[in-house]
Order: sequence, then structure tokens, then C-alpha cells
Amino acid sequence: MALHHGARLRSRAAPLLAVVVLAVLALVSLLRASHGGGRLAPPAAVSAAAARNRNRTAAQRKILLDPSFTPRLPRQGALSLSLARRNALPPRNAARFPSLPDGHLKIVLYVHNRPRYLRLVVDSLSRVDGIGEALLVVSHDGYFPEMDEIVKGIAFCQVKQIFAPYSPHLFPDSFPGVAPGDCRDKDRAAEKRCRGEPDQYGNHRSPRIVSLKHHWWWMMNTVWDGMEETRDFDGHILFIEEDHYIFPNAYRNAQLLVDLKPKKCPQCYAVNLAPSDVKAKGEGWESMVAEKMGNIGYAFNRTVWRKIHAKAKQFCDFDEYNWDITMWATVYPSFGAPVYSLRGPRRSAAHFGKCGLHQGQDSSSVCVDNGAGAIELDAIDKVPNIKADWPVHIIRKQPGYQAGFKGWGGWGDRRDRELCLSFAYMYHVKDTLSA
Ligand SMILES: *[C@@H]1O[C@H](CO)[C@@H](O)[C@H](O)[C@H]1NC(C)=O
Ligand SMILES: *[C@@H]1O[C@H](CO)[C@@H](O)[C@H](O)[C@H]1NC(C)=O
Repeated sequence: MALHHGARLRSRAAPLLAVVVLAVLALVSLLRASHGGGRLAPPAAVSAAAARNRNRTAAQRKILLDPSFTPRLPRQGALSLSLARRNALPPRNAARFPSLPDGHLKIVLYVHNRPRYLRLVVDSLSRVDGIGEALLVVSHDGYFPEMDEIVKGIAFCQVKQIFAPYSPHLFPDSFPGVAPGDCRDKDRAAEKRCRGEPDQYGNHRSPRIVSLKHHWWWMMNTVWDGMEETRDFDGHILFIEEDHYIFPNAYRNAQLLVDLKPKKCPQCYAVNLAPSDVKAKGEGWESMVAEKMGNIGYAFNRTVWRKIHAKAKQFCDFDEYNWDITMWATVYPSFGAPVYSLRGPRRSAAHFGKCGLHQGQDSSSVCVDNGAGAIELDAIDKVPNIKADWPVHIIRKQPGYQAGFKGWGGWGDRRDRELCLSFAYMYHVKDTLSA
């Protein structure tokens, strides 16, 4: 990341009330062009349809900027820089899978460090009907050679690997890792003269705990706004995790749901491969189901991402270290209407992990679950099993996290909030400081 100390967006004359301004399209495209360094150039002859498409894509790129905030990114070390260079590499297997058809989905798999789980997930993906049409983006939180090797071995579709370059796992002795002089646990900053703000429960930040929300937010911003491969993509991106077993019918079912959503459930924001209750297998009804957004195999388009991105401040300021609870308690409720997601009556993906995401790499508490035997597939899970003429059953009242929940904490440090907000800005403003 280059060091820029030029003009900032900050304007001291700006009235306090005008905290949020709509950055006009012109500015965005100007910045994009100056960032893009020639990558943009469209073919000279563009059809009317392509022009309309561009119009629509451009409209979806309008972003909300807070003029009083200057994004700041940590100074990168050698490992972080080398990973950032790998992020710029084109997808692998492009020769074997040269074209991604219209109507294909991009799939983003986000992972940390559970190789046994990842092997199972990759194995399940290899059996998914249609997977060769997809671009699989694997987003890594931290660098772990075994995880890297597994992903390099994927041969069944185009694969693009990205590494979160500001993962706390890449910063052994500075923020976003632990810096000397940082407060820990319930330290009192004034007495101990340490650095950091505690969360609402009096606890100071822990890099292992904050890394998950940072990764998710960095990844979202990157796959929608920071990648050549998705720049003009107007379809749906499907998100899965390293402990989600994917059924053979998942891809075709997801495509069906995406096609049916505008007609069958105009109020739905997304589609899901599994119920929002992670343990549920589905009702087995002859209908589709619209319910609150779940966190297993969710897919949405750029329009929805823009709505989420516009709530960056709420996302980043909420004292809750889980990204999904943050979404349920602050972001979705702020949309003004229930955020439904459309799914089939049987799951096409299943959560199998028993170990927490950030267990397993800690030698003192090795998590030994290997996920084996967790998932049994019936014949009906191997073929598309959603019917276009089914009605949609809407589940309106559901338990779980919602507006009013105060958060589990873990996200009180001002530096984490600022880094999070910086991720939301880094692809949209020119002058990002390197701290
Ligand atoms: C693109 O948008 C502009 C402004 O909204 C409009 O005038 C123009 O007709 C649109 N072009 C196409 C090809 O839809
Ligand atoms: C994206 O999805 C939303 C919610 O389903 C829908 O309202 C919108 O029209 C879609 N946008 C595009 C460009 O398809």
C-alpha cells in the first residue's frame, strides 16, 4: 500500500450535520479510473444492451462516504505485502474452464485454519453439479501453508485465492495484532498506562476474537468492490465457510432460487442454501420458504451489497465481534423492512463443525473434531429439488438476534472500528493513509 499524504476528503468547513454525503457517480468513476490504471478500457464497440448494463452497474456503485473520516491502513510487513501481490494474480484453471456462462454464480469460501474441515468442504464442492461454471474465490484469514496447499490442489473450477492482508494473524507485534503497550483483558488503561478502549463489559481487544469480523468485512468489500474478476458482475455471489458441507444439488438449487426470487418473493433480499436455524434440515414441505437471512450458503447481488455497504458505520461501531450477529442486530433492521431470504424446503448445505472457528490452531486446546460422518445425503439431495410452481411460505416471526440486542462485546477498541471503516473506504477514496 503506497503512502499518500495528499489532499483528503476531510473538509473542516463541512457543517457537522453533513456527515454523510452521496458521492456522485462522476467522482466514483474518476477515482476508479485513477485507481484502475487502464484496466477499465471496454471494447470499442459496445452494444446497447452492454451500455444499459453498464448504466445499471454504475448506478449500483453509488457509495456513501463520511467526509470526516480518513481511511488508514496498517503498515504492511513482508508477508502481508507478498500476499497482497498474490491477490492480484488471475484465477487458476482458466485454461480448463475458459468461460463462465451467463447466469453463473460466483462462490466465495472464507477460511481460517482448519485443514481437516477444508478438505471435506472441497471434496463436497468437487461433487457439486455445475461447479465448473462457477468462479470459486477462496478468502484466507491469515497464512497457513496447509490451507494454501489444499486450495492450490482444486482442479474442478476456476479458483481465485485472496488473503486478507490486514489479518491480525499477519501482524505478530503490531496492530491489528497485539502491540507492546496494549491493554489486555480487564486492564484499567489509566492505571496501567496501556493502550486501548475496553468493550461494554470491560474487556480489551483480543486479535483472535476480532479477526473473524475483520476478515468477513474485508472480504465483502474486496469481492464486491476490489476485484477485477467481479467488477462488472451483476449476478449473485454465494458465500460459504470452511465448515459448510455443500450438497451436490446446491449450485443448481441456488440458481433456481435466484431465478425465482423476483417473481416469487419480491421482498426477499437473498437466497439461502439452508435454514437460518443452523441445526435444521428443512421442513420437507412442497413449498419454498422465506425467512430471516441465515448464515449458511447465503447469496445476494450488488444492489443488496450497496445497501449493506451504506451501513458501514453501524456495522463497524457495534460492540459485537460476530459479523452475523452484527448484521442481525444493526444492519438488517436498519433497512426498514424485514430482510427475508428465499430457500428450498430441504437444505443444500450443512454446518458440520463442532470446533469454533478460532480453535484448533492453539496447541493448548486442540479441537479434534474431524467432521467425519456428520452429513448423510439422500438421493433427493443429489438433484435439483425445488419446483418453480411451488408457493412461498413466509415465516414472519422468528426467535434470535434482532434490533435491540446490545452485542456480546469484544469490539470496543477504537482501532478496530477505524480499521473496519477503512476497509469500507479503501476501494473508493484515493487518499488512504498508511499508519
Ligand atoms: C444511462 O443513464 C442515463 C442517465 O440516467 C440515461 O440518460 C441514458 O439513456 C442511459 N443509457 C442507456 C443505454 O440506458
Ligand atoms: C438484486 O436483488 C434485489 C433483491 O432481490 C432486487 O430487488 C434487485 O432488483 C436485484 N438487482 C439486480 C441488478 O438484479
